[in-house]
Amino acid sequence: MDSKKRIIDGIEISLREPDITHYKWIGRDEEMRFLLASWLQIDKEDLPMTPVLVGDPGNGKTTLACASAQEFNQPAYLMNCTSDMRPEDLIVTPVISSGNQIKYRGSPLVSAVINGGVCVLDEANRMNEKCWASLAPLLDDRRYVESVIAGVKIKAHSDFRFVATMNDDPSTYTIPGYIESRLKPVIEVEPPSGEVLRAIVKANVPYASEDLIESVIQHMLKDEDAFLSRSFSIRDAIEVTRYAVRLSRKGEDYQKSFEYIMKTGSESL
Ligand SMILES: Nc1ncnc2c1ncn2[C@@H]1O[C@H](COP(=O)(O)OP(=O)(O)OP(=O)(O)O)[C@@H](O)[C@H]1O
Ligand SMILES: [Mg+2]
Repeated sequence: MDSKKRIIDGIEISLREPDITHYKWIGRDEEMRFLLASWLQIDKEDLPMTPVLVGDPGNGKTTLACASAQEFNQPAYLMNCTSDMRPEDLIVTPVISSGNQIKYRGSPLVSAVINGGVCVLDEANRMNEKCWASLAPLLDDRRYVESVIAGVKIKAHSDFRFVATMNDDPSTYTIPGYIESRLKPVIEVEPPSGEVLRAIVKANVPYASEDLIESVIQHMLKDEDAFLSRSFSIRDAIEVTRYAVRLSRKGEDYQKSFEYIMKTGSESL
């Protein structure tokens, strides 16, 4: 079967390719086990769950979702949510083809629904209520989405799995209660221990010398309480290391990296 196109109720819908991801999840097995457990189907009467990963920015939610899809042996379809998204962007959008005909294009979410695979609904709480409403039947035991634009009801493949990620950035909306009750389990992605942080930075900046990584980590963990109380993230630690490597190459003091990376843009405006 052509995985790029599918005819549903006589309407042809073109589909997306899954994202090519080579994410490696380091050191925090429990969070991955909790996510993988939620995707299991225990019995033919049973249905997979629809979990959400929550946590501060830059601590690994998207990475965990994609690495878990790999571990689950399913392709990952990453759908990045924005505040101006419309329900059709989330499901099926019409496009005008060269012959002035209307064609229907499935979103990454619908491509996972039809082909089977994991939809990672990333930054999901940036979407407004209208978008959530269109997802309600997919997130309960009905397991379908309806495209008002194409006039079709699309049933989910048995290998379809779902995970949303969210953080409480100020640019987000409140999740409606009927959706919150469907997004279960809620898995918290916490900041890692110093040891795990060291391993993650090494894996993400493999060209940095051991010494440089060690001094970056030492510096960041000088105040381990600040790290655990979330005043900086894994992404910050990786960025500090990447910039420190560059500064050293230019003969500059690599310690300046902390100052330049940890300062926020808006602080300086
Ligand atoms: N356990 C881990 N193993 C490997 N890399 C990790 C791990 N946790 C985080 N990272 C790395 O940290 C960086 C930030 O992770 P990620 O983008 O997944 O965070 P996030 O929580 O989704 O952030 P945001 O809320 O801003 O979207 C990435 O470069 C990722 O590779
Ligand atoms: Mg993310």
